[in-house]
This record gives sequence, structure tokens and C-alpha cells, in this order.
Amino acid sequence: MATIGFLGTGEIAACMVRALAGQGHRLRVSDRNADVAAELAALPEVSVHPNDEVVAQSEVVILCLMARVARQVLAELPWRADQSVISVMVDVPLADLHRLCAPVPDIALTIPMPFIEQGGCPLPVYPESAALRQIFGPRNLILPVDSETALNAHFAASALSAPLLELLALGSAWLAEETGDPAGAEAYVAALFKGYMSPDGSGHHFLGLLESLATEGGLNATLRARMAQAGVPETLIDAMDGLRPRLGLATR
Ligand SMILES: NC(=O)c1ccc[n+]([C@@H]2O[C@H](COP(=O)([O-])OP(=O)(O)OC[C@H]3O[C@@H](n4cnc5c(N)ncnc54)[C@H](OP(=O)(O)O)[C@@H]3O)[C@@H](O)[C@H]2O)c1
Repeated sequence: MATIGFLGTGEIAACMVRALAGQGHRLRVSDRNADVAAELAALPEVSVHPNDEVVAQSEVVILCLMARVARQVLAELPWRADQSVISVMVDVPLADLHRLCAPVPDIALTIPMPFIEQGGCPLPVYPESAALRQIFGPRNLILPVDSETALNAHFAASALSAPLLELLALGSAWLAEETGDPAGAEAYVAALFKGYMSPDGSGHHFLGLLESLATEGGLNATLRARMAQAGVPETLIDAMDGLRPRLGLATR
């Protein structure tokens, strides 16, 4: 069990702290965001401190700041060579983190999503991180990738979450208007898509599902064709490509 510090006390830090509280770690959280800090401080093994104390007391520090803030505050903190740092931040490359958190040698980038709180979260990581495996490996899926560029491509893919969830929310609300049962509509849509989410390892799972739903004149094919007419697939790929410069990915 480790002493784990969190710099930043917002949405993603709160989910990670809730995921770990009560497992025997000592959790140190920045004294920011008073409401969230107070809620977290009420959990077992969690205490709230100024940033410098969080760093001084921790073996592993998880960076959950906005990039602009990270660039302002990290270099002033009492980093040591025996610590590990895990950054979940977009827009702060590894080379910058090594400069800002010197002399820490062990720094890794990963991408948690809010449901890490319940476990089962895929965690792409670069470079490999024993600290990440030890802390989050038991309840989540650690996915080492080959380069920082590959990690950043996963950041782009993680941004599929909001647009796809919006489609599910719209479809679920449409169903609820018909049935008068919002909870039932949401439960149906969630169970429907959970059923599709067991890839067979071929790399073609989603395309295979689309083929199985392509019956000519069928409801799925009709709805998909209408979305294609409206340019939805091209818009999605354009939007993902639009993230390339920000994430340092080669432009096509
Ligand atoms: N949200 C997600 O699902 C998600 C997923 C993966 C990665 N990330 C990454 O995680 C990072 C944080 O995102 P978020 O959504 O959690 O943002 P957020 O909710 O806005 O949290 C940012 C936190 O930083 C705190 N903060 C501001 N100045 C600070 C300082 N000087 N010292 C310590 N803490 C300070 C803020 O506190 P105050 O309110 O007091 O200013 C707030 O608690 C971003 O880099 C983002 O790319 C987020």
C-alpha cells in the first residue's frame, strides 16, 4: 500500500480518489475546489493538504490539473528522485513533465475516464508504469502502448465518449417520449449497447456487427443510411483529424 497524492481536485481526481478510498492506501489531495475536497476528506484514508505537502508526503503523485495550471505550479513543488508521477493531463508532453517534475525519473501518461470509480476502465499507458499497475491494475485494464504518439491517439479516441453518449442520450430520450418510461428507456439502451461490447480480438468486431445489421430495408440500415446522407460519419472523422495538431499527431 502506498501514499498517493493527487494534484488537482476536480472531476477526474475525485473519481480516482473514490476508486481507491478504503483499500489501505494513504491518499493526499490538493486543498482546492472546497466542496469536492470536503466530500473526499470524509472518505476513509483521505486527507487534504496544500500542493507542496501533497508532493512531500507522497510516493506516487497523480497529476490531475489543467495544462495551464500545471505549467504554473509544478516546477515549484518539492519533487524527489524516489517518487513516481502519473499524469492524466492532455496537452502536457512527457518531456515537459520531466522538466517540471525534476528530478523524478519515473513519469508515465495515462487516460482514465470517470467510470474508473467503478473499475473496468481501460488505461492506455506510456511508458510502462509499475506504479499505475500496482494502484489501478487490480480493478482496471492496463494497456501499455509503444509511444507517446500512440498514447495521444488514444486521447483522441477517448473523446469519442461525449459525441457517442450524446447520440445514446438522444435515442434514449426519443424512446422515453414514446413509452413514458425514461428509466426503462435508459436501461434498454444501456443493455443493448453493453451486449455489443465484447470484441472478438479480430480487429474487425465493430465492422462485423455493422454487416450483421445491414439487412436491406431493415430499420438499422434505414437509420444508418439517413445518418450517412447527413454526413455524420465524415464529420466524425474530420473532427477526430481536427485534434491531430493539438495532440502532436501527423496530419494526413
Ligand atoms: N474529466 C475527465 O473525464 C478527464 C479524463 C481524462 C483526463 N482528464 C484530464 O485531467 C485534467 C483535469 O481535468 P478535470 O476534468 O478533472 O478538470 P477540473 O474538474 O476542472 O479539475 C481541475 C482541478 O484543478 C484544480 N486546481 C486549479 N488550480 C490549482 C492549483 N494551483 N493547485 C492545485 N489544484 C488546482 C481546480 O480547483 P479549483 O476549482 O479550486 O480551481 C480543480 O479541482 C485535465 O488535464 C484533463 O485533460 C480529464
